[in-house]
Amino acid sequence: MKLTDERRKELRITLDYTNMTDKYLGGKGISEKTISAHKKLAKNAHAYVNSNRGKDELFMGWTELPYNQSEIVADILTTAKVIRRSFDAFVVLGIGGSALGPSMAFNALCHLHYNDLPKSKRKGPKFYVEDNVDPVRMKELLDVIDVERTCFNVISKSGATSETMAQYLIISDLLKKAGVNIRENVIFTTDAKRGNLVKISRELGGVKSYVLSDGVGGRFSELSPVGLLPAAVCGIDIKALLKGAAFMDKLCKSSDVYKNPALMAATLQYIAMQDGKNIGVLMPYSDNLRYVSDWYAQLWAESLGKNVTLDGKPCHVGQTPVKALGVTDQHSQVQLYTEGPFDKVVTFLSVGSYKEKTPIPHGCENIPDVAFLGGHTMEELIQAENKATAYALTKAGRLNYTINLPEVNEFTLGQLLFFFELQTAYAGAMFNIDTFNQPGVEAGKKATFALLGKPGYELQRSDLEKASSDPDYII
Ligand code: PA5
Repeated sequence: MKLTDERRKELRITLDYTNMTDKYLGGKGISEKTISAHKKLAKNAHAYVNSNRGKDELFMGWTELPYNQSEIVADILTTAKVIRRSFDAFVVLGIGGSALGPSMAFNALCHLHYNDLPKSKRKGPKFYVEDNVDPVRMKELLDVIDVERTCFNVISKSGATSETMAQYLIISDLLKKAGVNIRENVIFTTDAKRGNLVKISRELGGVKSYVLSDGVGGRFSELSPVGLLPAAVCGIDIKALLKGAAFMDKLCKSSDVYKNPALMAATLQYIAMQDGKNIGVLMPYSDNLRYVSDWYAQLWAESLGKNVTLDGKPCHVGQTPVKALGVTDQHSQVQLYTEGPFDKVVTFLSVGSYKEKTPIPHGCENIPDVAFLGGHTMEELIQAENKATAYALTKAGRLNYTINLPEVNEFTLGQLLFFFELQTAYAGAMFNIDTFNQPGVEAGKKATFALLGKPGYELQRSDLEKASSDPDYII
């Protein structure tokens, strides 16, 4: 992707928070005075994030990913080329932060029916992300791939996540039975030294592996090899993705909330949350951006959903992310957003120019209800509906703001991801919580170990058995 200074300016994503303000929402909006009263908090949050950039011990290594990966990127591009030549399918085995990013980038930047395209029209092998242990899904994946002609990217920082490791056991067994050397068809993305995938690699005589560095947590890992290898395999320009992230980083340099878009978004969300707006809807008006909502839901929920501050005070903060798709959910959830409780902030992702316009031909001239559509394009229609929904919400006094993407491409997606990561880090700093841990997820992982008889979890197992369903309450 050619990125002249002029082109970068054209592709700059912007935050439009008009519809959060009392000027447009009346009494339900946020006043200039309130934003100004939070300027210091925002400045401090910015200072916290800035002064801890790149610190592995604080899980802030992700801030440097746009800058420190040139060797890794070169290696990934070479490997991706080999994979494209050698395999018919590429399967990511991972979950949570090890899967949501690859799915999101694939859907955003590849053809929406990529796997259905003939090989000559695809930039890489068929692509699948298996982020569940639904037995039907696993079995039915095996119905459509030939394991011998498939490259499996096992992504797990810990190498101890039951879901991913169960999938690995199934796949490695199948490869063995097919007489394939596992090393030929498997790539690991994992911790550098710790973790079971490191041991497994050693036992197998050295599996091609990418490192997920200590300071990069799962949900902040899309711009690391976790996301970059799958993306490169599908022909996505990963250098442009990283350049987009670096560009947004620059746009967010200022500690002045009025000059830093991610800091403004975090501040507005913080103010809204303090006022009981504990639901955050993300509504992209683009099928390509649909899974950004899934990726963002994890980032926002797992990072902010905490019960204790950094200085040990109980807090119970966070905002429940809701995924919606424009226009589809206008015909499903928007009724609730417009007339239901005042407990939400709606974030729209709007697209300035879609890669297809798709003209709507004239027709049905005797039926005015239909005829007016002729001569427009589907791009005009979706943009009008986006604007109309924001307008209707605003008229109903509902907090909403828009992130405008001039186009959906690698450079704008990179900007968007970094914007959300910074916004999350700033918001966490405002709440004074540990944005980067996930004790609630770990608790569930451990309970699963206990239920399936992992040694060392016997006590928890007996506790779990006691907590099982009480027949008195089953009808
Ligand atoms: O964000 C996170 O840290 C989690 O969602 C993890 O990515 C997820 O639990 C998978 O963990 P692992 O990569 O260790 O298999």
